[in-house]
Amino acid sequence: MPALVAAAQQLSHVYPRGAHLDGRGRLQLGGCDALELAREYGTPAYVVDEDDLRARARAFTQAFAAHTDDFAIHFASKAFACTAVARVLAEEGIGCDVASGGELTMALKAGVEPSAIELHGNAKSEDELRLALAAGVGTIVVDNLHEAGRLVRLIDEHDGAGPQRVQLRIAPGVSPDTHPSISTGGPNTKFGLNLSDAPRALEQLSACPGVEVDGLHFHIGSQIMELAPFRAALERVVAALGTDFGVWNLGGGLGVAYGPDEQPPSIEAYAAAKVAMVRELCGPGKRIVDEPGRALTANSTVTLYTVQSVKRNVATWVGVDGGMSDNLRPMLYGARYEVEVADRFGGDTPCIVTGKHCESGDVLVRDALLADPRPGDVLVTPATGAYGFSMANNYNGQPRPPVVFVSGGDARLVVRRESYEDLFSRDV
Ligand code: LLP
Repeated sequence: MPALVAAAQQLSHVYPRGAHLDGRGRLQLGGCDALELAREYGTPAYVVDEDDLRARARAFTQAFAAHTDDFAIHFASKAFACTAVARVLAEEGIGCDVASGGELTMALKAGVEPSAIELHGNAKSEDELRLALAAGVGTIVVDNLHEAGRLVRLIDEHDGAGPQRVQLRIAPGVSPDTHPSISTGGPNTKFGLNLSDAPRALEQLSACPGVEVDGLHFHIGSQIMELAPFRAALERVVAALGTDFGVWNLGGGLGVAYGPDEQPPSIEAYAAAKVAMVRELCGPGKRIVDEPGRALTANSTVTLYTVQSVKRNVATWVGVDGGMSDNLRPMLYGARYEVEVADRFGGDTPCIVTGKHCESGDVLVRDALLADPRPGDVLVTPATGAYGFSMANNYNGQPRPPVVFVSGGDARLVVRRESYEDLFSRDV
């Protein structure tokens, strides 16, 4: 009798769109078997479903294009500051928001058109501003009065081809409902000019012939699960500074689902709301720039780990070969993640999945339910494509994980695992 082969099982929207369990119950990512990926590339490893990443990029451009033909999407590269990711997004017509000289260098290496790059930062150095001017970035987003003065001086010294386009970062005084560490537009924030200082900066910049102030920027925070705060911020900025600007850059911030029950606004609803609010409050003919980070990358990626130890104290502790060095978010923000054994989804053993680092707080998932986890099992945590790789670190001498792209049954390494030698490559 032929063996019964179970149908493939789709997974929740927390996983990349093409991820599923095959007939044996084994996780498949971009047509590749998760256990084989773990064997080939080792663990921990970030696995990016390239088709999912491209689909999200297209969803953003199509969603804005459905309502306006004058817009640009800039990937907030801090979310996943990886050359291969920026390159894929650039191929999909997406520019880059960079917040440092390092991210700027990454974007240039990825082949992002300099005119599609904007430089951010609340404490940019002269070197970073010089680098941006030399590269010919499309926009410098000025954060404060000191920077405005510094930029005017550097532009006077710099022999640029034309005026440097500049936007002013405004602190609108609106705090969305998110973790305090990732709320950026409230009344007492380190980011941007408050509404009463902004006119002085505008005056200073407008007096410089090498500068063209083309718009305003504000980014109120990240992992935002409702659309109302974006409008509240725009209302405040318009009330204080008017509508006499051609470009309205409303930042990023769209939240994502980390758990199957979380339902953030769709990309379509987000884009429709942002375009409608600019049209209604600022009038027609405005260019809209958006800077998504998390919503482009988070759910495209999973992290694979291998279980090293299982012990029973008061709770059952499952120790894996990564932790706060590859995902700081649980520790920094109390962020919650799903976790499963990659070939035995849906278990019922309550356990705490912990990292390998010398800190009791190095816990990846506090309330996991796993299928009888054992050393050697491969675990998967989905939705790790934003602020995982880019906040990875070497605590306890841990080499940072590789990044593997999967698509159509093929896997390719785009960032190799750090070696022990890499850890000492700066020793003099
Ligand atoms: N634009 C600016 C100026 C930003 O500062 C940020 C994020 C974004 C855009 C993108 O925001 P997103 O679309 O990703 O929400 N490490 C934290 C998140 C920090 C976000 C910083 N700024 C985390 O892991 O949750």
